Amino acid sequence: MPVAIEKFRPACPDRPDVYPSFWSSMFGAQSRNPIIGWTKASFEVSHASRSFPGFTYHTLNDPELIQQVFLDRQPSFGKPSLMRKFAGRYMGGSLFLEEGEIWRSQRRLMAPTFTPGSVAAFHPIFVEAGERTANRWAQEAPGVIDVDAEAVRTTFDVISRALFSGEHGLGTDEAAEHVENLLASVLRPGALLGGLGWLDQTRRTRKGRAAEAFLISRLSAFIAARQADPEPPGDFMTQILQAFAQDHPPEEAARLALSNAVIFLVAGHETTAHALAWTLYLLSEDQQAQAWAAEEARAALSRGGTPAETLEHLIYLRMVLEESLRLYPPAPRLEREAKADEVVGDLQIRKGDWVGVWPWLVHRHKALWRDPDLFDPENFSPEAKEGRHKFQYIPFGAGPRICIGAQFATAEALLVLAQWLARFEFAPTPGHRVEVFADMTLKPVGGMPLRVYERLG
Ligand code: HEM
Repeated sequence: MPVAIEKFRPACPDRPDVYPSFWSSMFGAQSRNPIIGWTKASFEVSHASRSFPGFTYHTLNDPELIQQVFLDRQPSFGKPSLMRKFAGRYMGGSLFLEEGEIWRSQRRLMAPTFTPGSVAAFHPIFVEAGERTANRWAQEAPGVIDVDAEAVRTTFDVISRALFSGEHGLGTDEAAEHVENLLASVLRPGALLGGLGWLDQTRRTRKGRAAEAFLISRLSAFIAARQADPEPPGDFMTQILQAFAQDHPPEEAARLALSNAVIFLVAGHETTAHALAWTLYLLSEDQQAQAWAAEEARAALSRGGTPAETLEHLIYLRMVLEESLRLYPPAPRLEREAKADEVVGDLQIRKGDWVGVWPWLVHRHKALWRDPDLFDPENFSPEAKEGRHKFQYIPFGAGPRICIGAQFATAEALLVLAQWLARFEFAPTPGHRVEVFADMTLKPVGGMPLRVYERLG
């Protein structure tokens, strides 16, 4: 009789039967870690609406409804105006926050850097960054290593070399900490109090403001130096600065380049770093999956082809990564504000209401996945993917505003993981309890300490 292999059930917060109160959502434990408030029913319903003083929040789980908001009626749903109010100083004018024609022209301008062909030019940077980290680990293994912190350093190294030629003048650890603080402060619940935002003087808010000031001052200096450089390096930043200079006076071009520099630093490394850490956690708990992925990585790397050829041979590892992005979507929440009254399915949405699509809920929804809380890379076998709704799996968002860096992040994660898995074995740290925390990104509380051993032979 075939033996059923028990699948691993990874860490996930308990689900209460009822929603926490308004006050807990705004000021209590859920305000610090919003994913702990989702009830059992949140993972079963197609949509739900909750009214707060001043606005209604509609949560959508049904892929058909998500498609309506993110694609079919996309112009009626914009980025929340509070995001502009609280993050506008450094995000205003950027690809991430702008709408309409300004967004379209920026997306057109930046898209060529992120096509699969252009991303291939960055492959050597991904491989070298992964190798540098692995070489450092070789000195420390066997031992316990916080792979989340290591992944943050690695992906910061990648983004600064790939887009800024490493010249932005930010030290890795210092910048990574500020980026984390900035992300933690963007959608703080206190900000939802709108006009009463000045009441929000929490430690998180203060750290967010300090991070904002730090990044703006350092990156402004970097951009000024680029504008003054008669022969700047031909990287992404020079390219967008020169393009903005064609249509705008130098000061405005510098402002637009600055907000995009912040966005690409912020959006482009922490997300990928946490994806690496969650993937290693899952593999540390499923030794069979780790053995398969490691064997595949060693075989792919030993062929000695280009990184693009290596990627073609990382078939199982890609399934593992996709499953990891399902269970732990690094961007766990996507939010929009209705710009006009709309009807979506049987939902009446009023101008000013918020629509929340949480990959965290959709990816673990009972009606959409079999055993949604178990780790099973087979969810991403070609047969399992066939016929799946396009808006059911959305780690990179959906519709025209889908993540511009999705190909970049995927190739980076696979090439870095292949290096690490080929050389090291990862095991859980006894006594360490993995806990999930969400603000703008989904990360492990207290990092991800794993025991790391160098593979023999
Ligand atoms: C695993 C890694 C990543 C994940 C999970 C991720 C996720 C996302 C998601 C969900 C969105 C859509 C947000 C929304 O609709 O509100 C987004 C947008 C964006 N991402 Fe990523 N991202 C990742 C890596 C990257 C990288 C590496 C870059 C840049 C190099 C990047 C740059 C951006 C930008 C600029 C946008 C805004 C696009 C627009 O609005 O047109 N991301 N990302």
